[in-house]
Amino acid sequence: MKILTVIGARPQFVKACMLSRWLKIDHDMKEVIVHTGQHYDSNMSDVFFSQLNLAKPDYQLSIGSSSHGEQTGKMLIELEKVMVKEKPDLVLVYGDTNSTIAGGLAASKLDIPIAHVEAGLRSFNRKMPEEINRIVTDHLSSLLFCPSQTAVDHLRNEGIKENVYNTGDIMYDAVLDFKERALEHSNLLSQLTLTANNFYLATIHRGENTDDLKRLSVIIDGLKQLDLPVLFPLHPRTNKQLKKWNITDTNQVSNIMFIEPISYFDMLTIASQAKYILTDSGGLQKEAYMLKIPCLTLRTETEWTETIDSGWNQLVDLSTSKNIVEAVLKTKIPKDYSSLFGNGEASDLMYQHIKSWLK
Ligand code: UD1
Repeated sequence: MKILTVIGARPQFVKACMLSRWLKIDHDMKEVIVHTGQHYDSNMSDVFFSQLNLAKPDYQLSIGSSSHGEQTGKMLIELEKVMVKEKPDLVLVYGDTNSTIAGGLAASKLDIPIAHVEAGLRSFNRKMPEEINRIVTDHLSSLLFCPSQTAVDHLRNEGIKENVYNTGDIMYDAVLDFKERALEHSNLLSQLTLTANNFYLATIHRGENTDDLKRLSVIIDGLKQLDLPVLFPLHPRTNKQLKKWNITDTNQVSNIMFIEPISYFDMLTIASQAKYILTDSGGLQKEAYMLKIPCLTLRTETEWTETIDSGWNQLVDLSTSKNIVEAVLKTKIPKDYSSLFGNGEASDLMYQHIKSWLK
């Protein structure tokens, strides 16, 4: 049986490496990995493949950046060619990026079944490109792997009921598997002369924040007023926008320490030792919860509502920078903690479902 995996952006490399392991040890399965090239800088791509021991892609499409339509369209054209040539039995797509929807569309036009990892997530904000990517991909998929019961319920409400599985979250598998190794290997904290619990970690990359001058200014202003250093690994998109609007001199700003994008091991280490995490990333909101670090989500809504209900995550209204400061001051470590994202066996379960579905 041949599985064709489509990946292209940072978080997809993390998710894919866990399932890829199972496919590798099964001699009846052959995995063909296609990298769309959505993320292409070495610190956004290569470093993940080497740290996670993910096989080198069989196809590197090198699509790179452009507008959403153009990027997705170019991926669709190239992915169709690969799928026609490889004739896979199943196409595996992850998450909610343009690579996900392109993989789903290319496969569905060729009548190849699709399995969607991280199915059923909804922010109910259709202005987000990711929301459209998720909805369309879910409706094209034959096998849907949900990280939580909430995600299963969302699919049910949209009439998707068959082959929907609550497997738990594959990112939790990765956190459990890599955390110790990450802590052993990463020395970023000492290089930056930071100590555990004495800094905040911030990441921003969503278009709704980076492409809106007012929101981006409010975020930077708010972070500047915090009482501890803020370590801020800069996504290329954010870096570009900060420079374009001259919001701040990224080399020299008060308590904010801007650094290049960091590897998965560095991120796990930094995230697990930060006092709080401030982010608009979907993945990092969950990782904060998995690592038991309070999170402040700099968005108006989130698809990870369970983390909000648990008290470990909160949404921050970005109308003024004061709101960020006040939210940080009010944040406390909740007393209760329960496992919201399964038991770390999501990739094993997905593999079993794929195997029996393909029989
Ligand atoms: C994408 C996903 C988002 C996911 C995120 C993970 C979509 C619509 N969004 O957003 O769901 O959470 O990845 O990081 O697919 N760039 C570089 N070097 C790189 C990669 C990107 O310079 O290696 C720049 C490009 O100039 C591009 C910008 O970053 O314009 C944004 O890249 P894009 O492909 O839109 O993805 P993300 O913003 O990362």
